[in-house]
Amino acid sequence: MQLNAQQIERFDREGYLFFDSLFTTREIDVLREEVPRLYAQRRVENVREKGSDAVRTNFAAHMYSAPFARLARHPRMIEPVVALFGEPVYMHQFKINGKMAFDGDVWQWHQDFGTWKNDDEMPEPRAMNIAIFLDEVNEFNGPLMFIPGSHKLGVIDAEHDTSTTSYPLWTINHATIASLVGRGGIVAPKGPAGSMLLFHSCLVHASTSNLSPWNRVSVYLSLCAVSNHIRRFKRPEYIAHRDFTPIECLPDDCLLRDYPVALPWRDGTPEAALQPALAG
Ligand code: SIN
Ligand code: MN
Repeated sequence: MQLNAQQIERFDREGYLFFDSLFTTREIDVLREEVPRLYAQRRVENVREKGSDAVRTNFAAHMYSAPFARLARHPRMIEPVVALFGEPVYMHQFKINGKMAFDGDVWQWHQDFGTWKNDDEMPEPRAMNIAIFLDEVNEFNGPLMFIPGSHKLGVIDAEHDTSTTSYPLWTINHATIASLVGRGGIVAPKGPAGSMLLFHSCLVHASTSNLSPWNRVSVYLSLCAVSNHIRRFKRPEYIAHRDFTPIECLPDDCLLRDYPVALPWRDGTPEAALQPALAG
C-alpha cells in the first residue's frame, strides 16, 4: 500500500494519518480470536493493570503467535512506513494494548520517541507507530488522543513516571500539554475495528481510562529505520528488540492464508531476552 502526495503532505503537517476500515472483518476476526489465548498466558510479556488482572499490554506476540507474526509482515502496515523513511525497517516494539472494559487505565501524555531516546538510545525519530483497531474505538472506550502538529517540536522535556500506572513512561507535564493544546487542539480518531492509524514518534499522545463496557484492543507496531537502530539494550528484548533484520512483507492476503512464519519464542521467552544487556 502506498501513500499519495496528499496523504504525505497531511502526515507532515498533522503528524498522523487515519485509515477507516482498512482491514476486513474476516481479517480482524483472525487476530481477535487469538487475543484471549495470549492474554490468558502467565508470561512476562503480559503486563497487567495496576491492582487488576486485566492485561494492559502484551509484548512481542509476533514472536510466539502465528496470526500476529503474519500481521508483523503485513504490506498494508509495513510498506507506507518504508516509503516514508526511504529505507527498510525492523520491528522495534510490538504490542497488543488491552484497554479492557471497565479496567483499562490511562496512558499519560507522552511522546514515544522520548522513551526510545532516553531508554534505548535510538539516535533519531526515524521510527513510526502504526496501529490497528481490533475493536471499534468510540468516544467512551478510551480512544487515543493526539495533539496535531506537536511532532514538529522535536523531543519535549519529560519525567520518568514509574508509579501512576503499571508501566513506566516518560511523561510530559501539564503546563506544557496545556500550552501545546492551546496551539494544536486535541483529536481522537475513532472508527470500526479494522481501522489503522499511523503516527509520528514525536507526536504527543495519551488516552483516558475505559469506563465503558467495551474493550478497546489495539495492536501497535513500532517500526524503526534499520540505520537508526537502538544503541543501548537497557530494556529487555521483549520490550525493545535487538534484531535489526529488515522486515520482509508477506502477500496482502497473509491474514487469511497459512503462510509459514518463524515463531522462535513459542515454547517460552529465551533467558537472554528477559535481561538487560551490557553492550549495545
Ligand atoms: C501508547 O501510547 O503506547 C498506547 C496508548 C494507548 O493504547 O492508548
Ligand atoms: Mn505511546
